[in-house]
Amino acid sequence: MDPKEIVKAGYNAVGGIYSSIRHETLPEMSFLPEFCRYIPQNGKVLDLGCGGGIPFTKYLSEKFEVVGIDISPKQIQLAKKNVPKAVFMCKDMAKLDFPDEFFDAVLAYYSIIHVPREEHFPLFTTMFRILKPNGITLMSLHSEDDPQSIFTDYFGTTMYWSGFDGDTYISLLKKANFTIIWSKLVRDSLDENSKHLFVLVQKQVHD
Ligand SMILES: C[S@@+](CC[C@H](N)C(=O)[O-])C[C@H]1O[C@@H](n2cnc3c(N)ncnc32)[C@H](O)[C@@H]1O
Repeated sequence: MDPKEIVKAGYNAVGGIYSSIRHETLPEMSFLPEFCRYIPQNGKVLDLGCGGGIPFTKYLSEKFEVVGIDISPKQIQLAKKNVPKAVFMCKDMAKLDFPDEFFDAVLAYYSIIHVPREEHFPLFTTMFRILKPNGITLMSLHSEDDPQSIFTDYFGTTMYWSGFDGDTYISLLKKANFTIIWSKLVRDSLDENSKHLFVLVQKQVHD
């Protein structure tokens, strides 16, 4: 089966269960204030793989104009209800068609991990293209090599993951012209045996 169809069907089936275990005390929340300091007042933020919008899209929508994208119609339906201030689109993040220099910032928490890894470098170049000069991106990525994995009991449904090890991601991000502000390994709050690479990267523009 097409990985995108597995992910879409999976998050449709998971419905509100995922959002119900996402809360504001998650450790990943602690990176958002620093991320927000790079974004101008009334800035435009793209949340890739926003899920049901709780708590990250909601937090950002209280400060900025937020566009949330998700491949799952069910998650988009939940996000529209949970975060009425933001704009949502049901879309594959690998097919973004926003104009150049449109966003001040991009957030991608636990979503690129579900995209086939051969699409990651093209996605990073698109993110760079649609960011304004000095725009900022915060994302969580795999930290270990995983060409693809499929698990049949993810909240009772089937799910797909794919990604590279941390060093490969740092090289790919640099190749896409991003400047690495920081990168760190963070234990997954839902799975203590797994760690994710969190990166804060910037489209720095030099004269
Ligand atoms: C683990 S959830 C994370 C949701 C939210 N970002 C959070 O951290 O709470 C992953 C989300 O990414 C979405 N997603 C996965 N692949 C995607 C793709 N190719 N394009 C857009 N969204 C995608 C899923 O539908 C799901 O809602």
